[in-house]
Amino acid sequence: MTTAATLEGTKRFAEKWRGRAADDHFRETNGLVVSSLGIGTYLGQPDPKTDDAYTEAIVAAVESGINFIDTAINYRFQRSERSIGAALKQLAAKGVPREELVLCTKAGYLTPDSAMPSDPNQYFFREYIQPGIFSAKDIAGGSHCMTPRFLENQLGRGLKNLGVDCVDIFYLHNPESQLGEVSKPDFAKRIREAFAYLESTVRDGKIQYYGMATWNGFRQDARARDSMQLAEFESIAREIAGDRHRFRFVQLPFNLGMTEALTLGNQTVSGKQMTIMEAASELGITLIASAALLQGQVARNLPPFVAQALGLENDAERALQFARSAPGITAALVGMSRTEHVRANAKLVSVPPATIDQFSNLFARGESA
Ligand SMILES: NC(=O)c1ccc[n+]([C@@H]2O[C@H](COP(=O)([O-])OP(=O)(O)OC[C@H]3O[C@@H](n4cnc5c(N)ncnc54)[C@H](OP(=O)(O)O)[C@@H]3O)[C@@H](O)[C@H]2O)c1
Repeated sequence: MTTAATLEGTKRFAEKWRGRAADDHFRETNGLVVSSLGIGTYLGQPDPKTDDAYTEAIVAAVESGINFIDTAINYRFQRSERSIGAALKQLAAKGVPREELVLCTKAGYLTPDSAMPSDPNQYFFREYIQPGIFSAKDIAGGSHCMTPRFLENQLGRGLKNLGVDCVDIFYLHNPESQLGEVSKPDFAKRIREAFAYLESTVRDGKIQYYGMATWNGFRQDARARDSMQLAEFESIAREIAGDRHRFRFVQLPFNLGMTEALTLGNQTVSGKQMTIMEAASELGITLIASAALLQGQVARNLPPFVAQALGLENDAERALQFARSAPGITAALVGMSRTEHVRANAKLVSVPPATIDQFSNLFARGESA
């Protein structure tokens, strides 16, 4: 039987925090209850010390009220997925079963295994080209691929790295990076083929949902070459699988230095121009904020009006509070390889998200500052 996050399991996780977690720290989306903060595993060296640090940080995060875990196969050359796998084993031994945790990973970037090989070309030829997993024409920008055959291979590796038989959310990783050299119609064709494969993978029980984890694609002016329209992708998913399609999650950077998701009207849905937050809500897609601290840059030295609007004890808390409290964001991801950062950030578990008034106040003061 496939083991994955379930509504019952994730509700049970939240229930254990009753009385300790603030109302609205846990949010239900697509039949899963997720914490408003998630732990990310992108940054850091591909070495055993960082492997162990992430494993310890993930266990600490789960024990502090965070059940949303984000990675990608290429993060630290597959080592971050493996650090999560090790954490899941420890957590299971401590009585936290897989069903209570929502696991997200991504594929798209070519990645070596554990360390950069001395001859990367030879490695990719032997591992991928020779067995027919991709050919040179499938690769964009020298490093990106999203053909079904490649995704199947990456998901298989990811499941093994994580030590699970199902990933809850499987993202195409920065698909917009292909738009530098692929035309929009060819790009749409590639997305369609990827989505058709991902829907079949849902049926096989290897993933529960799929989505896109993006960097620029939904933050640009609509006319930019690498800008994307959510409605176009949603209609592709709908054409493939009808109303019950599983294209339900989009990740994009959202933090005090990157506010486009809330402020830039770069999407069109049913002829109406709107922000990605409004478009996602209209289309039934859950938004996840990545890089909530702008890779550490907004963890300190914020202008005083942020403290005036949001209160709290320090700038890192304020920056995370901003990302988790935005009206269209279900969870904000923060990279944490250090348990002291987990403990500091998890203080927000017991703090209610900012109110709409506090949030609006922040923008009003930001404009006048
Ligand atoms: N396109 C994409 O798909 C994409 C792009 C970016 C990010 N993401 C996802 O989003 C996650 C978060 O983004 P990110 O890791 O790039 O950046 P981030 O969360 O904005 O920042 C992470 C950095 O902040 C540090 N930090 C954490 N808590 C802190 C605190 N309280 N005070 C000071 N520093 C603190 C971390 O240090 P330690 O590690 O030392 O604890 C790490 O260096 C990623 O891990 C990844 O899962 C996805």
